[in-house]
Amino acid sequence: MSAPAPVVTERLAPDAAGLARATALLRAGGLVAFATETVYGLGADATNEQAVARIFAAKGRPHFNPLICHYPDEQAAWADVEPGELGRALAAAFWPGPLTMVLPRRAASRVALLAGAGLDTLAVRVPDHGIARALAAGLGRPIAAPSANRSGAVSPTEAAHVLAGLDGRIDAIIESGPCRVGVESTVLDLAAGHPALLRPGGVSVEAIEALVGPVGRGVSLAAAEAARSLRSPGLMVSHYAPRLPVRLNATLVAPNEALLAFGPPLEGAGLTWQLSENGNVSEAAARLFSGLRALDARGLAAGLVGIAVMAVPQEGLGLAINDRLQRAAAPRPAGQAHLSDLEAQG
Ligand code: TXA
Ligand code: MG
Repeated sequence: MSAPAPVVTERLAPDAAGLARATALLRAGGLVAFATETVYGLGADATNEQAVARIFAAKGRPHFNPLICHYPDEQAAWADVEPGELGRALAAAFWPGPLTMVLPRRAASRVALLAGAGLDTLAVRVPDHGIARALAAGLGRPIAAPSANRSGAVSPTEAAHVLAGLDGRIDAIIESGPCRVGVESTVLDLAAGHPALLRPGGVSVEAIEALVGPVGRGVSLAAAEAARSLRSPGLMVSHYAPRLPVRLNATLVAPNEALLAFGPPLEGAGLTWQLSENGNVSEAAARLFSGLRALDARGLAAGLVGIAVMAVPQEGLGLAINDRLQRAAAPRPAGQAHLSDLEAQG
């Protein structure tokens, strides 16, 4: 894939003028980063094949993974997918909010095939963020948006994180504050009839199961990516990877390690980032990606050798947190770019 031409990334305010400029850029096939309640997204007009292709180029994504389409409301989403009874019930309960549903694509959908990676399904969501919804409403078309980070790097929960990786590679960013939820949306596959969890995220599985009954957990994205990496070694094994090695379930910490703490911190670390002093998993989710970035940058500068992570319970948003931490700790293929490398280039 050829490198995208350098551009000057415009910094837009989260006001009417900023939204008008962002909408005009999207309409012209540009790339605009914007906040959602989960993480910042890198948006393009989902109906414009070339604009969607630019997303993959800007991220340096090595292959075409399908993207989530963002809508201002559920009626707009139902123009592209068939929700069925289950989809309608889930939308009523969780939209706007951090739930993405994979549903059968309508034949009449104008969404670019590349956005759905040629599948007969589409991933759709209505974000719980005024800026994201206003942008989609103003454009009058769905916005395709993956997380606004270079491929393989930690997802951005602040505007500065986006610029660290993508400044000069995207047309604009709407600079609003930090993201409230902090981990990506829950991805639920409804296309096969029975709901199956593809990625744990901002809506807990417990909350979904309270509404629709047991949710299948067999086909995880991690498993799908592992299978893909067998065919194309080294592409997608580790995600969310800081440069310092990550060690999970630490019960002791060394002075030459940084500590990602949950609850009362272990003593003796060279550097500590507290996810949640009183063990609240939602607070921890909101602070997770900032913490990985901060410990990686400051830990490397201080000559530390790794990041030790205290255990986080597998309940509520803890499922999403542990999924991201396991990816951060996964073995890394030689040659994979990591956060610090990416920021050095960015
Ligand atoms: O919170 C979020 O979901 C953020 C914000 C920006 O909305 N977006 C995000 O996008 O995390 P991304 O591209 O990083 O992750 C989307 C995930 C991918 O793992 C992709 O494989 C999966 O959703 N996905 C998208 N379309 C799919 C489809 N048709 N079938 C199965 N999985 C799909
Ligand atoms: Mg991502």
